[in-house]
Amino acid sequence: MDKKITIAIDGYSSTGKSTLAKQLAKKLGYVYVDTGAMYRAIAFFSMQHGYINTDSFDKEALINSLPSIRLQFQFNPDLGFAEMYLNDENVEKQIRTIEVSSFVSKVAEIPEVRTKLVEQQQEMGKNKGIVMDGRDIGTVVFPDAELKIFMTASAQTRAQRRYDELVQKGDTVTFEEVYKNVEERDYIDTHRSNSPLVRADDAVEIDNSNLNREEQFNLVLNLVDEILKKS
Ligand code: DC
Repeated sequence: MDKKITIAIDGYSSTGKSTLAKQLAKKLGYVYVDTGAMYRAIAFFSMQHGYINTDSFDKEALINSLPSIRLQFQFNPDLGFAEMYLNDENVEKQIRTIEVSSFVSKVAEIPEVRTKLVEQQQEMGKNKGIVMDGRDIGTVVFPDAELKIFMTASAQTRAQRRYDELVQKGDTVTFEEVYKNVEERDYIDTHRSNSPLVRADDAVEIDNSNLNREEQFNLVLNLVDEILKKS
């Protein structure tokens, strides 16, 4: 398999995009990029600096700070994937909290934030051999990606998965809180004017409410094989 392609995985929150993307990247020897982590890191930065809280959001202050925000992924061989660094600090754990989840869609609506991150994402993928997951990868970041996947599952299924994940990590959240967050993020992500979450016309849609990880992985791997055979 000499030829390398670009694989764009988009979809609603907690559809298992990152699990699938990580599995694919490992199997193909590709780089995996979790673009949600980048938006989360900016949301975390905004919280740290007091730009955003439950009552207010100082967008101007965040926009003015953007040039000073440096995001990097560093591969952690023990975990088998890259962790997010914000200005040289490993923030992988901090960006996964429900608090960050509750602010991140508001941060991701800001055009200046999107422009900065999309540029960085395009740079990371310029040599192909990449699996990138997010909301606008197949539509905006890599509209020419050879394979585009759009993942969906019912809100109930997704909230349950996310809740189980958070509880396993020791977070004290209620299912209702997680469900509400999933619904709110879906709404903001699909209704924002700048790069809303939409399925690219040429994306393959996978509803995984009733698919297990292995079935889903094999399905996508077959699609990759077909593309590589044709090229
Ligand atoms: O994939 P995730 O749930 O970790 O993403 C967190 C948020 O970031 C999500 O609610 C919307 C935003 N996001 C985005 O707007 N564009 C992307 N490419 C990735 C994430």
